[in-house]
Amino acid sequence: MTDVTGKVAVVTGGGNGIGLATSEALAAAGATVYIGDINEKAGLAAAESIRAKGQKAEFVRLDVTDDESISSFASTVLEKEGKVSIVANVAGWGKIQPFMENDPDFWDLVVDLNLMGPMKVTRAFLDSMIEQKEGKIVVVSSDAGRVGSMGEAAYSGAKGGAIAFCKGLAREMARYNIHVNAVCPGPTDTALLAAVPEKHREAFVRATPMRRLAKPSEIANTILFFSSPSSDFITGQVISVSGGISMHG
Ligand SMILES: NC(=O)c1ccc[n+]([C@@H]2O[C@H](COP(=O)([O-])OP(=O)(O)OC[C@H]3O[C@@H](n4cnc5c(N)ncnc54)[C@H](O)[C@@H]3O)[C@@H](O)[C@H]2O)c1
Repeated sequence: MTDVTGKVAVVTGGGNGIGLATSEALAAAGATVYIGDINEKAGLAAAESIRAKGQKAEFVRLDVTDDESISSFASTVLEKEGKVSIVANVAGWGKIQPFMENDPDFWDLVVDLNLMGPMKVTRAFLDSMIEQKEGKIVVVSSDAGRVGSMGEAAYSGAKGGAIAFCKGLAREMARYNIHVNAVCPGPTDTALLAAVPEKHREAFVRATPMRRLAKPSEIANTILFFSSPSSDFITGQVISVSGGISMHG
């Protein structure tokens, strides 16, 4: 039931880390995947490696903080494929720094990337999804957005906003058979986490009952679940894939 054969999927931030693993998982499950990433080299390599396995993937450059780029990305994909059934909003970024040391430009970037990006990319595909009465939208948030994270106040706010956006949109879109759900990774072994000081990474592992970082493929599996018929009666929900670092009622 995690078969998505014949579906067209868009993955933002699909060139690296969790986005790359998501692109691989969706393509392996039968989708044609459009990788949107600001990093052309990584995006092209990701699409190439998926095609080398006999699966379907294309790279189209995308900057989720740029309205024109989002609009040209969406029209390129829609012109080629006619419709898109899955939008996985994975691109995002943050860094650990006390709130009192944050520059307001940093807040703008964090909110643009982690909240406005998913909102705008999702909006760009909704008319087509409403018309076809079918859609799976997944937003990658973070446990920071559920419980707050030390040194990541602005990021926690943006990721929390992304969760609330999913819930509100899920209510509005249910009548069109469009599902909207959020996945919250805990600390995951990607380049984003490699940029975090070693002492913080060690503290993350100590705080995780399963005593290790997540693999990107483990987050991708849940994104695939929310993108597939396995989750056809689930909307407006949030799943933490975090080895138990946070537990929610
Ligand atoms: N790694 C973790 O520990 C962790 C934990 C919780 C949440 N997350 C979230 O998971 C998502 C993926 O993170 P990751 O760890 O795989 O990061 P990553 O840095 O490994 O990959 C992010 C990808 O997004 C792309 N990207 C960056 N800015 C972009 C933009 N403006 N437009 C389009 N693409 C852009 C990058 O080029 C890169 O390919 C993010 O939303 C992140 O906030 C990660």
